[in-house]
Amino acid sequence: MQIIRVEDYEDISKKATEILLDRIRTAEKLVLGLATGSTPVLTYQYLVKDHQENQTSYQHVTSFNLDEYIGLPVEDPNSYHTFMDHHLFNHIDIPREQIFLPNGLADNQQQACIDYEKQIQNHGGIDLQLLGIGSNGHIGFNEPGTPFDSATHIVDLAESTRKANARFFDSIEEVPKQAITMGIGSILRSKEILLLVSGEKKSKALARLLEKQVDSQFPASALHHHAHVTIVADKAALQYTN
Ligand code: F6R
Repeated sequence: MQIIRVEDYEDISKKATEILLDRIRTAEKLVLGLATGSTPVLTYQYLVKDHQENQTSYQHVTSFNLDEYIGLPVEDPNSYHTFMDHHLFNHIDIPREQIFLPNGLADNQQQACIDYEKQIQNHGGIDLQLLGIGSNGHIGFNEPGTPFDSATHIVDLAESTRKANARFFDSIEEVPKQAITMGIGSILRSKEILLLVSGEKKSKALARLLEKQVDSQFPASALHHHAHVTIVADKAALQYTN
């Protein structure tokens, strides 16, 4: 696990952009795993800016998002489909048919999970997975207790996660109670993982992660089982870490 310490959120986003652009520009074909949430927003803005200024192409990129709420129409302003379109996909030249997000509206949700795993495998697996972390240590929507070998699955969202995400909705009642997420096993199968951690709110989770104790009650600790993880974190997030 490599830790890159930077000053603040802006620098995290610059560093993440630099790493992503390096892979995007050098690979002949690239499968990216992408995340939603607040953390990657500025990174996506920088990628869009780069695309506009330098015409970096995404024609050879395929993307798989980590998760999606169950029951929200794709066009709902709070769906992760909408989030990704708004922050990234509408502004770069990635072909629409190369964009994948879990299907939160499938009649057969179990089948949707199996299909998503197959799609990832059919594309040769994820080359680089971008991650944020929840203050309870969740990655994707894998809440504490999720088995480390889990594949894409349906989850009941923890109350703390619904509360944290309520800021995007009019009220907490509107936050869906379930989501479909890549599993911890799916995440660990990525060839490379880039975890971004910003701000005081994440400092305890980051300190716990860096204690290196692997514990299924702290999902992010599964990353210690992966050989190629880079964490980019700012001073506020690293305040409890030497
Ligand atoms: C997002 C995701 C989540 C977030 C995490 C942190 O697709 O899977 O695990 O990465 O909840 O969210 P933010 O970045 O909003 O603090």
